[in-house]
Amino acid sequence: MPKIFAFIPAAGQGSRMGEGVPKQYLPLAGRPLLHHAAAVLAASRRIHRVVVILSPHDGRWAALPQPWPRGRVEAVPVGGTTRAQSVANALAHVADDARDDDWALVHDAARPCLAEASLDRLIDAVADDTCGGLLAHPVADTLKRGDRHGRVVETVSREGLWRAQTPQVFRYGLLRRALAARPDATDEAQAVEALGEHPRLVAGEADNFKVTYPEDLALAERILVARRPTT
Ligand code: CTP
Ligand code: MG
Repeated sequence: MPKIFAFIPAAGQGSRMGEGVPKQYLPLAGRPLLHHAAAVLAASRRIHRVVVILSPHDGRWAALPQPWPRGRVEAVPVGGTTRAQSVANALAHVADDARDDDWALVHDAARPCLAEASLDRLIDAVADDTCGGLLAHPVADTLKRGDRHGRVVETVSREGLWRAQTPQVFRYGLLRRALAARPDATDEAQAVEALGEHPRLVAGEADNFKVTYPEDLALAERILVARRPTT
């Protein structure tokens, strides 16, 4: 059985959040934001290793509580200047343990509301795939293209359009080659697509959005609090 290596890129600055602290360390529902993503992956028995990718200048991770079994979540300070570079460096870090047909599953630190059922659905959907796939959500709104004066130029068809989420999961060897060739890719799928592959789109939940702007924190907090058992 191929093994699943999970990676959580957490080496960004969170500049759009506009706080002094990178967003992965902001408090959310009583824990650092990054703990939510790590906890879902650490709880999955299907995942072999969980690797958090930190900036080499990170001074915060070591001071956090580690609420999972000892060693279950490893942190490696190999973050690069782009997200793709951060992931590429972490893939190299596990090279001794990974085979080309193992899986590399990448999930943003900044998506705290991933449901366990969605993670399982993604892993099941790609099981027989030679490439891999990603969670994504069909676009529901009517789309407009605007000009630089803030006026509508045209209505764009949303037919066949999806919002890419994470986790994204690809064969380890394929993803290493893809990211080495496209260190500018904004997600893993884009790098894999550039090799001529067609990643599988697996329907996820709107809840699994990326915390990017300050107002996103309150929505994520409401979702997480509403999920807590009431007893
Ligand atoms: N990330 C990373 N290494 C980078 C850039 C981003 O590991 N060089 C991580 C972030 O920590 C985040 C994820 O990739 O978990 C998604 O990136 P994004 O939402 O863009 O986060 P930031 O780059 O931190 O935010 P911003 O773009 O607003 O600065
Ligand atoms: Mg960014």
